[in-house]
Amino acid sequence: MLRTHTCGELRAEHSGQRVTLAGWVDTYRDHSGVLFIDLRDRYGKTQVVFGGAGGAEEASSAAPSPVEIARSLRPEDVVQVTGCVALRPEGTVNPKLATGEIEVRAESVVVLNKSATPPFYPSMTGKDLPGEDLRLKYRYLDLRRPEMQKTLLLRHRMIQIMRDYFDRQGFIDVETPMLGRSTPEGARDYLVPSRIQKGTFYALPQSPQLYKQILMVAGYDRYVQVARCFRDEDLRADRQPEFTQLDLEMSFVTADDVMGVVEGLMARLSREILGRELTLPLPRMTYDEAMERFGHDAPDLRFGMEIIDLTDVARQCEFRVFREAVESGGRVRAINAKGAAERYSRKNIDELTDWVKQDFGAKGLAWFKVDGNGVLGSPIAKNFSAELLRQIAEKAQAEPGDFLLIVADRFEVTCKALYGLRKRLGAELKLYDPSEKHFSWVVEFPMFAYDEEEKCWTAMHHPFTSPREQDRALLATEPGKCRAQAYDLVINGSEAGGGTIRIHDQELQSQVFQLLGISPEQARERFGFLLDALQFGAPPHGGIALGIDRLVMIFGGLDSIRDCIAFPKTQRATDLMTGAPSSVDPKQLRELGIRTNL
Ligand code: AMO
Ligand code: AMP
Repeated sequence: MLRTHTCGELRAEHSGQRVTLAGWVDTYRDHSGVLFIDLRDRYGKTQVVFGGAGGAEEASSAAPSPVEIARSLRPEDVVQVTGCVALRPEGTVNPKLATGEIEVRAESVVVLNKSATPPFYPSMTGKDLPGEDLRLKYRYLDLRRPEMQKTLLLRHRMIQIMRDYFDRQGFIDVETPMLGRSTPEGARDYLVPSRIQKGTFYALPQSPQLYKQILMVAGYDRYVQVARCFRDEDLRADRQPEFTQLDLEMSFVTADDVMGVVEGLMARLSREILGRELTLPLPRMTYDEAMERFGHDAPDLRFGMEIIDLTDVARQCEFRVFREAVESGGRVRAINAKGAAERYSRKNIDELTDWVKQDFGAKGLAWFKVDGNGVLGSPIAKNFSAELLRQIAEKAQAEPGDFLLIVADRFEVTCKALYGLRKRLGAELKLYDPSEKHFSWVVEFPMFAYDEEEKCWTAMHHPFTSPREQDRALLATEPGKCRAQAYDLVINGSEAGGGTIRIHDQELQSQVFQLLGISPEQARERFGFLLDALQFGAPPHGGIALGIDRLVMIFGGLDSIRDCIAFPKTQRATDLMTGAPSSVDPKQLRELGIRTNL
């Protein structure tokens, strides 16, 4: 080793020892001839002193002295320093640094490598940090930042815990192909052309879904994999085109069994990463309840401000906007921002109104503020009798100082708009502790969603999802009412994972395909291998996949999924460091039988 210790290791008890450290020059200070260098590696920082009392100062004839070499050092140079550990003089102890009680008095220094002047420094924090594009282009410099190192270490630890947990539970890790057939998870595929069979393509997996089901048919019983998945879809703060799932599948299980295994893992992660005990079982809510109470299938349960239904009151009022919404089968729903009346001026409300119109397709935003006597006031109040205002106040449990926001529309629009408002106001009004983690399940999703444009049913999860036993008959009569054996893990309003019990019965599978408008020929063409496998003694089975990047984001309290991934892609799905995607040599295209047509 070129070092005896790391830069994060030395403490007061090492004082007097002779050590050799190697690392990067983090910062550099010259105090009237005495040089202080913070030497950094991924373990921490150590202050090295050149030229102070106790160091070797005088040069031996021709060779430059350590002080002289040190004076030529610049940030990000890589050096090796040998010297003695000494307690820092009184008053210079740095309690913020783990090594802050000591310093190394340099006796010799070797420059292992000089650095070009970097476009930014890993020691930069907060506002000094450059824009994300520069950080991504020089990712190796960005990854030197302690924050990034902390996150990648967290990710490593979480994955280690996952692997250990599943190993102890008797799961086996099986790798499934990257070059395979398209899996229907609802996004576009990334395709890979075949050179040997020109004109044909592999699809990179959107998930290992079909392979893991086949593993159950093959008798592997408990499968787990840390699996890379690829989805060509519109990117958001919590989505990447290439991401990692903790993917698992089990045979001879019910939904409760799969959820139980995942709960055990969450309890362990919570204990070992956050130092908090999780109370099990985790709370569960049906999809319908989540939409009624929160307007979304992944509600943030760290705070209340639940949706209040005012449809019955609105039915009786004079206000055209509300009455028309109710008469055309819509709903009138609200949230009550407790004590927030003063916080939101007319200008703020106008902004909120424009926002719900633009982002959620609402037609407007009605509101009331509750005065000191508990009376509702608003420009629209004149359309309501005193009795109706009283009923609204009662339903909303309104108290003086409260601020009610109301949306009248189709159910789906009220869900979207009030979900958005609740999320935004929850953050603005600081209704929750950002460091809290709230885990829950949302269960009993609908099997199908109706696509108004295409006039057809689509699978809410994927077409291999099993309906609830008691809902099987609904497949033939009212598919929209049919509920699936599906479960999503929700943490702090984020969908951290999702899974289902699968169909293991050919006949049921055909019925579902038929409902989804997948003809027997199409089914054979796309998933013939799975249908074949289901004929050869498929056991009842089910599973789930957790988004590892999202879990790291949540456990690390980070805002961007890109900060949890060593080499992420931008919103435009570009890797700014390597320049991928890029054009390729025309010869490569010829070999593949591909001509671009741009
Ligand atoms: P699903 O499509 O719900 O299920 O994916 C499971 C989890 O993966 C994460 N995730 C993503 N994370 C980052 N970027 C993305 N683009 C992205 N897409 C999904 C989410 C999500 O909850 N085969 C099924 C699982 C099963 O039924 O067993 C599946 O892939 O956290
Ligand atoms: P209008 O009668 O369109 O001028 O609207 C009067 C008030 O009702 C305005 O504050 C609008 O933002 C609000 N509003 C209009 N349409 C809706 C709606 N569908 N739901 C809730 N509020 C609405």
